[in-house]
Formats: sequence, C-alpha cells, structure tokens
Amino acid sequence: MADTSPSRTFPKAPIQALPAPGWPPTQRDSKSGIDPTKIRRMNLNESPFPPSPKAVAAMQEAVTRVNYYPDPQWRDLTAALSARTGIAANRIIVGHGSDELIVQIGRLALSEGDEVVVPTPSFPGYSKCAAVNGAKLVPVPVRQDGSPDIDGMLEAVTPRTRLVFLATPNNPTGGMLTTEEVVRFARGLPTTTMLVIDEAYYEHGRHAGGEEHLAALAGVAVPWAAFRTFSKAYGMAGMRIGYALCGSDAVAEAFQKIRSVFNVSTVAQAGALAALQDEDHTRSILERTRIERERIIAGITRLGCEPFPSVGNFIAAKTPKPPATVCAELEDRGIMISRLMAPGFDGYIRITTGTADDTDALLAALAEVLAA
Ligand SMILES: Cc1ncc(COP(=O)(O)O)c(C=O)c1O
Repeated sequence: MADTSPSRTFPKAPIQALPAPGWPPTQRDSKSGIDPTKIRRMNLNESPFPPSPKAVAAMQEAVTRVNYYPDPQWRDLTAALSARTGIAANRIIVGHGSDELIVQIGRLALSEGDEVVVPTPSFPGYSKCAAVNGAKLVPVPVRQDGSPDIDGMLEAVTPRTRLVFLATPNNPTGGMLTTEEVVRFARGLPTTTMLVIDEAYYEHGRHAGGEEHLAALAGVAVPWAAFRTFSKAYGMAGMRIGYALCGSDAVAEAFQKIRSVFNVSTVAQAGALAALQDEDHTRSILERTRIERERIIAGITRLGCEPFPSVGNFIAAKTPKPPATVCAELEDRGIMISRLMAPGFDGYIRITTGTADDTDALLAALAEVLAA
C-alpha cells in the first residue's frame, strides 16, 4: 500500500540527507583574473585533443536531422560496438555519458542500508550513486601501484553488499588490473552483488599494454557490466556518450526497463560511431597522451613530487607543499589541476595530461611554485 503518512515529505529522506551539490570547476570559475580562454584545463581528465575530423563531420551532418528524436535503440552504434567487443548488441546499453550508467546502476541495485564497495581514492560518482539510494559506501584503499586492492575489497564484502565498482585503470591513481585479477575478483563475489568494471580509461590501459577482460568474464556467475566512454580516448567529453557491456541479457534488460527512451542525442550517436571507426585518430590521441604522461611523471618527480605510476590521461602525486597551495598557485599562473579529497590522500594532487605546450607550461609553473 502507498505510504500516506503525513511525515513523508519531499524530497524523500535519502535525498534530504545529501550535501548541497557542488560542480567541478572549469575556467569560468577561476579566481585568477586570467582570461578564461587562456587557462589550461588540466583538472577534469578530458582530452586536450579534439575528436576525429570524421566524427566532427558526422556530427555536423547529424545536427541537420535533430527535428527528429534519436534512435531509441542506438542500433548503428551498438552494432559497431558489438563487432568490436564480441558482446551481443542486445547486451550493450548506451548512456548519456558513463556517468548516467553509474546513476542507473544505483537505482537498479541499491536500497536503503545496502553497501557499495569501492576503491579509494576513486571516481566521486560512486559515492553519489550510493548516497542517493541511502546506501553506505565502503572504501578500500588502493594498492601501492594505484590499482584497486582486490583482496581487500573482497574482504570488505558483507551480506549487505549489493554493488561493487572496480575501476581499472583507476581514476585518480591510474593503476590497472590483469585479467586474472579481474576474474578472480568476480569469482570471489556473491551472486547477489552487481559488479561494475569501470573502464572509462580502457583505451589508455590497452595502449599501455593492459589486457582485454571481456572474454574471460563470460563464464563468471556474478552479474556484471563493463562501463566505457567516448569522453576520454575519443575526445568527446562534451557530447556525453558512454556505454555498458553487460554480462547477461538480464543485466541489460534491467537497464532497459528504467532508462529514459531518447537518452542519447542523434548527434552523439553519429559522432561516437564515426569516432569508433577512425582508429588512426584514436591511436594518435593515445600516443600523444602517453608521451605527455611520461614527460609529466619524469618532470614532477624531478621537482620532488611522488607520482603513482599511472597508465591513464592523469597523474596523481604527493606534493612537497600542501596541495591546496599548489593548486591555487598554479591557477594564479593560468593552470587548473585538482587535488584528491579522499581521506588519507589529502597530500595529493591530480594532473590531467594536456598538449606538449601544456606540459612545458605546467612544469615551468610547478618549478616556481615548489621553489618558493
Ligand atoms: C572512472 C570514471 N568513470 C566514469 C567517468 C564518467 O565519464 P563520462 O560520464 O564522461 O562517460 C569518469 C570521468 O572522469 C571516470 O573517471
């Protein structure tokens, strides 16, 4: 029966308990007084390199058709993703960014009082996913190499655990897991738990020699999905498009039941398809990112920082000066980076890789900031 008690207010209790929302800062929020168009954006793990010219052309063509709703079944894109991944098209769910899928999986898996096991530090979206559903986040510190501590996470699982996020490569520490580890982890979970393998940086991981886990996951009993995105290696963060590769028809059907019908625009679908097909462009983004990542790691190490050995388009590092000071002083010099907010990691900054010019500017500015 519906709850008609007068104490029931809007919004519902778990939402009332949430902190006021905050948004990731962009150049517009900078207090440096510098022309926002001149500020280097090295704080949000975006690609500094634009999408494939073929994706841009496809999006320009698609924009002339936006009088019609988009394909609610994302058929062209899921067919291409299916051919690429070996996952059946009906098990591929496209989202308005993988962030939308993170929100959806919380709605699918969690009730009040449930637990969500995550690595820490990790993507802030997981804690929001837990909180909006009244669930409790159970953070497990990453290993020394910045990869999720799968043994520690398995120990943290209780009968209340309904959802686990395994980010590999992990943001912000950049460590990744082997297939053997991912499969061992999946086999160690109770089948009442949903496993999300967050592969937002999958392409960067592969470019650094990481393994493809999908085939080996085919036989595991726990429900699972791997989330990927066009925001990173494809340079399309502003289009908002990501996807879930689901381990079973049942997992995919659950997403289908709750999603909004026209959740991904015609322009985003067309752009993603063209971007996926332009492998040379993606490879070039990945290679340029690798070069700048290695330059930044070497440069900041020389300046006295202690970076995690990242494979992503970002580097988390312990700094000899308080991160708040480092971030503020870099911003005064026109460079935005971020700091880690997770308990136990308050001595760390995170730098997103940029262009070669961004690396030069960052290292010169950081040398000044740390010398002062
Ligand atoms: C680990 C991880 N997962 C998911 C996302 C969300 O990506 P998007 O919503 O742009 O696909 C991000 C973005 O930074 C991320 O770092």
